Amino acid sequence: MGTDYIDLYQIHWPDSTTPIAESMEAVSRLIEQGKVRYAGVCNYNAVQMAEAEKYITPASNQVPYSMAKRSIESELIPYCLENKKSVLAYSPLERGLLTGKMKPGHVFAGGDHRKEVSFFKEENLKRTDEFLNLLKPIAKEKHLTLGQLVILWTLQQSGITIALVGARNSEQAIENATAVDTALNQEETEVITGYLEHLELIA
Ligand SMILES: NC(=O)c1ccc[n+]([C@@H]2O[C@H](COP(=O)([O-])OP(=O)(O)OC[C@H]3O[C@@H](n4cnc5c(N)ncnc54)[C@H](OP(=O)(O)O)[C@@H]3O)[C@@H](O)[C@H]2O)c1
Repeated sequence: MGTDYIDLYQIHWPDSTTPIAESMEAVSRLIEQGKVRYAGVCNYNAVQMAEAEKYITPASNQVPYSMAKRSIESELIPYCLENKKSVLAYSPLERGLLTGKMKPGHVFAGGDHRKEVSFFKEENLKRTDEFLNLLKPIAKEKHLTLGQLVILWTLQQSGITIALVGARNSEQAIENATAVDTALNQEETEVITGYLEHLELIA
């Protein structure tokens, strides 16, 4: 990118063996030295963010968030809204689960670790498929794939600044990136949120 500094340097996970004070003091040295412009964190809860705030001014928190994983809505999002922190939602497609391609009976390739994750167990594939069927008419009407609709819903949620969508190949990357050529209005977003009451996955 032709720069000798990092725009946003995010600590990947809270380190259980190092006090947050120590980590943040190290980051503040990097800012003082001009190597980093803004500091951020990843996978911090609201209490950990407040602790980090004593030493630096974190600009962002990168956390998991999807239709299937909404736990940040209760405490972290209100904290970030109140304290003006950006939230970068990672895995908004829940690693492919919410694209509609994983039907009940889905067989993962050898070495694909998703088969060990509860979201991808047979019962959850069935429940997710039923939920996604509810979204199909909206996706069809708006000429969106299910994945694109899920991305747009994610971006509409209060406090979400960015959706960090992954892609296996260029086709997926293009499909995902072009989701934002369309927009969901408030009513469509609320209808989808209402359908989410039907998405109860088992741990
Ligand atoms: N800070 C952290 O701790 C942390 C942790 C995890 C991820 N992240 C970040 O978040 C980014 C995204 O995470 P993620 O890859 O888990 O995100 P995701 O968007 O939930 O899932 C991406 C996966 O969904 C499938 N997919 C994506 N687009 C598709 C499409 N158009 N059609 C069909 N399938 C599609 C692909 O799986 P298939 O292989 O099945 O095609 C792809 O690998 C990562 O690149 C990483 O930078 C951060």
